[in-house]
Amino acid sequence: MTETQVKNVFRATAPFYDLDDRDVTRDDIPFYIEQAAQAGGDILELACGTGRITLPLARAGHKVWGLDLSREMLGEFERKLSGEPPEVRERIDLVHGDMCDFDLGRRFSLIFVPFRSFQALTLYEQHKACLDSVRRHLADNGRFIINVFKPYTFLDESWIAEETQDLDTVDPRTGFKVRRTHIQREIDIDRQIIQADLIYYVTRSDGSEERLVEPLTLKYFYKDQMRGLLLSRGFEILGEMGYYDGRPIEEGPELIFVCG
Ligand SMILES: C[S@@+](CC[C@H](N)C(=O)[O-])C[C@H]1O[C@@H](n2cnc3c(N)ncnc32)[C@H](O)[C@@H]1O
Repeated sequence: MTETQVKNVFRATAPFYDLDDRDVTRDDIPFYIEQAAQAGGDILELACGTGRITLPLARAGHKVWGLDLSREMLGEFERKLSGEPPEVRERIDLVHGDMCDFDLGRRFSLIFVPFRSFQALTLYEQHKACLDSVRRHLADNGRFIINVFKPYTFLDESWIAEETQDLDTVDPRTGFKVRRTHIQREIDIDRQIIQADLIYYVTRSDGSEERLVEPLTLKYFYKDQMRGLLLSRGFEILGEMGYYDGRPIEEGPELIFVCG
């Protein structure tokens, strides 16, 4: 798969990605830091994006590889890295690549696909290819953690919704006013695929305005489907939770699986 064939790579809006301030984007970081401390070896984050999680892991002293298909997201990551001390920069290796097809020539104590990134893969062949690539890269006794969102119910056409605002802030780096909305555009119930647009309205310091649209196409999974997929690709499920505070998988808004 090439970058031009896929959506979900935040090509238009990567510079604004880190403005997302939902609780979930704060609560997962300590969870992965704790998991990294337990793993105690090299770490691979698939779909690392702007380094929202990779960077705190490196600052905590871990050696981390980050792989992502989006040059724009990796560009943001590199920009942030340039402001980090040399010892943090040295702990991070960035790889431009597809999480369905990569060969890094090494094994990792911890591999994770956080913040629903696996849902960018919409085909079963991609899910298999990604999970098989993970297995090839996992050290003996290594751990694999995957997160997808939990559909709050059986999803149907009632999921479709008009434009709704979810963020209104000032970018501390540029001073630009940034407002974000989303439109829940389409749902394919048979294939369990949703299409949404993230829309950014950016007002620059000189008053000029821009509207940027990020189309997202995401596969959604029900709990037992994720379990089945992981087991069918040879993973052992060591733990399941519904949120980063460890609450039972039935009770939280996320599906988080810790696998061996
Ligand atoms: C929701 S962001 C998550 C970024 C980061 N892990 C975080 O938690 O903030 C999803 C990321 O998946 C990346 N992505 C989408 N498809 C991919 C693929 N096939 N291989 C690697 N990365 C991919 C996108 O470029 C984007 O950076």
